[in-house]
Amino acid sequence: MRKNIVAGNWKMNKTLQEGLAIVDALKTALAGKTINCDVILGTPFIHLACATDAIGDSKIGIAAQNCADKASGAYTGEISAAMVASTGAKYVILGHSERRAYYGETDATLKEKVVLALANGLTPIFCIGEVLEEREANKQEAVVKAQIENALFDLSAADFSKLVLAYEPVWAIGTGKTATSAQAQEIHAFIRKTLADKYGKEVADNTSILYGGSCNASNAKELFSNPDVDGGLIGGASLEVDKFMPIIEAF
Ligand code: G3P
Repeated sequence: MRKNIVAGNWKMNKTLQEGLAIVDALKTALAGKTINCDVILGTPFIHLACATDAIGDSKIGIAAQNCADKASGAYTGEISAAMVASTGAKYVILGHSERRAYYGETDATLKEKVVLALANGLTPIFCIGEVLEEREANKQEAVVKAQIENALFDLSAADFSKLVLAYEPVWAIGTGKTATSAQAQEIHAFIRKTLADKYGKEVADNTSILYGGSCNASNAKELFSNPDVDGGLIGGASLEVDKFMPIIEAF
């Protein structure tokens, strides 16, 4: 179901106490406000259970930033989709470029993770995006199409409809070099057409496609004004509520 979504991705930041302080501050900032998007916090694993308790009756969603590509077993250090779901978290960020780059995540392992996340009732927020060299070579459309096809196109239309996509040009992540509004709209429209060619217009039109990569209070409104940009996946600016709120209120 297509929605406006602003999701924070804390990455490897915030102790348990710092994280709970953010959740409390965000609840206070949102209280009594009319907002026009779903708000999600993507926290490290240590926060999931207490964050889902702390959000109480607020509408804040909680996301893990990863899950294992195995259901259970002798995989020391891994966290399964079932374990994530048992915390009360409803979402899981998968395929983030940092996990692809630093931890060798492949389309094949991501395909397994998506299936396990769906099987445990989690909504995957599936990340795609090109690196600078690929953008400079004008290969961004080929790159994101391959990422989608290789990891997601074995899903049924019904299962694909449960996903959220996040286009994150790697060259814009943490750099301050945000994609222009026109660049974002162009690739988001391409992504939506790619979905329509596979699953039909209804599924494509009902898929939320978020933008991530140096999205902040100064550019969110313009980015989100595009017809095919349904919100943002926010890194740095989600770590402080006074920077996160203006992005939430950009809708
Ligand atoms: O997942 C969102 C993240 O990659 C974007 O990071 O700091 O550029 O907003 P940032």
